[in-house]
Amino acid sequence: MSLCMICPRPKAIDNPVELFGPTVIGGYHPIPTYFCCMEENGLTYSIILMEGYKLIAGRCPVLEGENYMKGQMKAVVKETAAPGGKLVQVGIPTAGPGEILVKVQAASICGTDHHIYIWNEWARGRIKPPKIMGHEFCGEVVEVGEGVTSIKVGDLVSAETHIVCGRCPLCLTGKGHVCMNTHILGVDVDGVFAEYAVIPEGNAWVNDKDVDPGLASIQEPLGNAVHTLLSGEIIGKTVLITGCGPIGLMAVAVARAVGASAVFASDINQYRIDLAAKMGADRVFNAAKEDVLKGILKETDGHGVDIVAEMSGSISVIKQSFDMVKPGGRISLLGLPAKPVELELSENLIFKGVTVNGVTGRLLYDTWFQVKGLLASGRLNIEPVITHRFALEEYQKGMELMDSGNCGKVILYPNR
Ligand SMILES: NC(=O)c1ccc[n+]([C@@H]2O[C@H](COP(=O)([O-])OP(=O)(O)OC[C@H]3O[C@@H](n4cnc5c(N)ncnc54)[C@H](O)[C@@H]3O)[C@@H](O)[C@H]2O)c1
Ligand SMILES: [Zn+2]
Ligand SMILES: [Zn+2]
Repeated sequence: MSLCMICPRPKAIDNPVELFGPTVIGGYHPIPTYFCCMEENGLTYSIILMEGYKLIAGRCPVLEGENYMKGQMKAVVKETAAPGGKLVQVGIPTAGPGEILVKVQAASICGTDHHIYIWNEWARGRIKPPKIMGHEFCGEVVEVGEGVTSIKVGDLVSAETHIVCGRCPLCLTGKGHVCMNTHILGVDVDGVFAEYAVIPEGNAWVNDKDVDPGLASIQEPLGNAVHTLLSGEIIGKTVLITGCGPIGLMAVAVARAVGASAVFASDINQYRIDLAAKMGADRVFNAAKEDVLKGILKETDGHGVDIVAEMSGSISVIKQSFDMVKPGGRISLLGLPAKPVELELSENLIFKGVTVNGVTGRLLYDTWFQVKGLLASGRLNIEPVITHRFALEEYQKGMELMDSGNCGKVILYPNR
């Protein structure tokens, strides 16, 4: 048995481990948690440590010439202030104090990533290249930094993507979702479209070990849908979801799961309208072809719906929401209009007694517990929203699908 001299970051290990009889005391590679290396019968073996030191023996990755042995990984990087993204080799980051290093198993493409990719106006004002893109993911913890106590190597984690300060007046009063100093993964700091990613311990959300990493990676946008719908009463109420992008599609399933009396959905893209029906909408509307207002009034005895969950960001839809909501009802706005919106408030909101609320991110961490509970209940099936699964190398194909709108969630796999 000899220790590998190639690993850039060997680490001391506390627990000596029984291995084929003899006790091994030494260092291990923190990245894929490989014990290295052992020579036996002229062959070099690595001993893979998983799930808290359960042992599996395998061929030495040094001999296999694997990337991580060089401290390198592949990542999709926004290199310059221009449209596009690039698959490049970068150094594997290290978990600093209070941070964890995760081997990314699945990462999903969000509308935000697409905005950064096409380099829209918002991205131009916000992103400071170079940055590794991506924020929605699931992966295995392979290294924990100094002082980390709640997360251990081997945990399968996803993450709350808003890194909040914990100290501002809003964080201190339980409103971290509107923290005054929020940094976003893959936007303000390096993200997860890579083989490995570093996140703060406080942002990690531990998943069950047997969960599909693809599904676990979309809990963050699912949280947007849950936060929007549960930001007021919903049981026994009629709901209209305007905009069936991935979040709207998941909202359809959530509204059903939490006991809405009827779920209506609208979009202008037939692919997504068909998906909305698959997610369980009682009635879908193609806003490009039919009068949604007329249809909604017909479905609700001329009263309008109790709740409009606005998830298109379309200015005309936001305006129309006030005609489609029942007096005394609620309009929850998640979709982001690109420009200021002019509204008539006296008749449409004040005399109608309508409640309008803005929804950002997820409540920390109330929404995450609601997401966990809903998925565990077996009543919420969001699987049909995942329409494409690609290797990380095919990220451009994913971005093109996002351009067309002919997709639900697109999942990238960096380590397959
Ligand atoms: N507030 C937040 O924290 C937050 C977080 C994530 C996303 N968002 C925003 O929420 C919205 C939904 O996110 P997504 O990822 O599902 O976005 P998306 O862009 O994929 O979905 C928007 C959908 O609205 C549809 N649409 C466009 N015009 C329409 C119309 N006239 N009638 C009906 N549908 C129409 C589009 O075809 C598309 O399917 C976006 O505006 C996004 O920017 C907000
Ligand atoms: Zn996102
Ligand atoms: Zn704060």
